[in-house]
Amino acid sequence: MAWQVDGLYFLLTAVSAFFTLLIFVLVLVFAIKYRRAVHPHPAHIEGSLPLELTWTLIPLGICMVFFAWGSLIFFQEARPPKGAMEVYAVAKQWMWKFEYEGGQRDINQLHVPLGRDVRMIMSSQDVIHSFYVPAFRIKADVLPGRYTETWFRPTKAGTYHLFCAEYCGTDHSGMIGQVIVMEPTEYQAWLSGGGTTTGSLAANGEQLFQQLGCATCHRFDTQGRGPNLIGIFGKPVLLDDGRTVTADENYIRESILNPGAKIVSGFKPIMPTFQGQVSEENLMALVAYIKSLSQQKGSASNQPVSDMANAQ
Ligand code: CUA
Repeated sequence: MAWQVDGLYFLLTAVSAFFTLLIFVLVLVFAIKYRRAVHPHPAHIEGSLPLELTWTLIPLGICMVFFAWGSLIFFQEARPPKGAMEVYAVAKQWMWKFEYEGGQRDINQLHVPLGRDVRMIMSSQDVIHSFYVPAFRIKADVLPGRYTETWFRPTKAGTYHLFCAEYCGTDHSGMIGQVIVMEPTEYQAWLSGGGTTTGSLAANGEQLFQQLGCATCHRFDTQGRGPNLIGIFGKPVLLDDGRTVTADENYIRESILNPGAKIVSGFKPIMPTFQGQVSEENLMALVAYIKSLSQQKGSASNQPVSDMANAQ
């Protein structure tokens, strides 16, 4: 995305410079040409419709170019492509915690492979932070209580600055890190050598799913007291008030912390809240697990529930 942002920025600068110069030159030229010594009695001019239209429409056109190009970049930056690898980030005063799909963890260092789309799913444990990688021309607020996202595709191996771009307290300026872009083979080696992994993120989520007792109501074999979660991720969900929402990361998060907010059609609002009992990291593991229920076995979501039970 960087060259597009740079292109737009260059155009903005060039247009500003052009008009600054134009105005300065005209001020000088008119001051000399229409000085009092030459024109002692100024002519009275009522106004000119063509002139006023011109100086309204030309700036409007120029602004619309900025608007259209800026929107285009915004939409591209806001919509991660399908198939992007996902990295979860938790910001807190004053550090960045990253967690990869394989369960590896990083603090203040984000390791990514060259040439792959990387989607960041981010949340904050305390106040508002902002994920800012100037070299990638991306910046996204990281908020408590919800997930925000951004994405990038690194095109050059190396180490890049990561900043927090939202004032978040005393050590805001120290909340810095690195994005380390590695050759794919190097990256694989890093992943497998990546220290203390206790199983993939989704596997940790599965464990929590059992520990917290989610599995007693959200059953996969038969209809439980809660919805069967296999295959729901990314799909529309019909609620009991008639609305339909998409089961994305924020929906799952809300359903865990504030289950009463959106009741699935056909179910009773009996689920207790897990607010304060699940850390941001564990929430992300649970989200990854529920996501994995829709990814593994490809067509799992289309299989009848009884077949799923047999498969397990
Ligand atoms: Cu976190 Cu500034």
